[in-house]
Amino acid sequence: MSTADPADPADGAIALHDFTDLDHAALPVTYVAALEAFDRLPLLRELKALAIERTGTGPGRRVLDVGCGFGLETLRLARLVQPGGAVTGVDLSADFVVEGRRRASVAGVPVELLQADAQHLPFADASFDVTRIERVLIYLDDPWRALREMVRVTRPGGALAIIAPDFDTNTVNVPDRDLGRAVLTHECDTAVVHGLMVRDLRGHLLDLGVHDVRVASRMVVFDPDLAAQYFTGIGRSAGAAGVIDEEATERWVATIAALHRADRLFAAIGYYLFTGRVG
Ligand SMILES: C[S@@+](CC[C@H](N)C(=O)[O-])C[C@H]1O[C@@H](n2cnc3c(N)ncnc32)[C@H](O)[C@@H]1O
Repeated sequence: MSTADPADPADGAIALHDFTDLDHAALPVTYVAALEAFDRLPLLRELKALAIERTGTGPGRRVLDVGCGFGLETLRLARLVQPGGAVTGVDLSADFVVEGRRRASVAGVPVELLQADAQHLPFADASFDVTRIERVLIYLDDPWRALREMVRVTRPGGALAIIAPDFDTNTVNVPDRDLGRAVLTHECDTAVVHGLMVRDLRGHLLDLGVHDVRVASRMVVFDPDLAAQYFTGIGRSAGAAGVIDEEATERWVATIAALHRADRLFAAIGYYLFTGRVG
């Protein structure tokens, strides 16, 4: 477990690239806290609600949540499909699966959580009415293979929902724009594997025979504490990589801290929701 102090943005900094490789460390409290903080963001909640509406997720549906983490949305969906429905969640992290099962048991929610790779789903063709994936594709070696797998396990006429950010839309109100560009470009290019994949997503869905493809988006505004943690961390990463020098790194960290203390920190990132029907 991490000993990071979540009250100190500099200490509790979040490094998103570790979502590709979580089980090489014990389940870090910073990642649990980060996923919970993202899950609470009201504009992201709007996209989750729209995903439910556009996929017709409700009583009686068989739903698969791919890369479900420890089941924050999965457990909500499991309640929503009652009576008569069933929700399955898969995640590569064994620790997240264990934590999700613990939470489901405490909450008394019927849900099946399994350890599996999104790129090799352990289900027969046409097993689900609705298949969703939220904030996962950008971390995968082959997001298009995961998409093909999602189409395969969804029944003809069933629905897909994909929520993913465009990593090049990260925004923070650090006044030095050159410094901001250097840090944010480094984050986009290194923190995740496919930070810009949403730009090609519609085309890939059409190529897979998915129809009625609809796109919604939200510029998701960060909670100030989450923004301070995340943007402090990415400045430090850029410094450690030599993209910015020591003076610039200290200035970046101090600027974020000062804006946060003064309740003037503003940060956001663009998220998309793609939905469609499997052919
Ligand atoms: C940012 S989290 C999102 C979790 C969840 N979807 C949510 O919205 O709270 C990314 C998740 O993807 C999982 N993940 C990464 N690579 C994966 C893979 N190849 N197959 C399945 N899950 C994967 C991570 O373990 C992590 O739980």
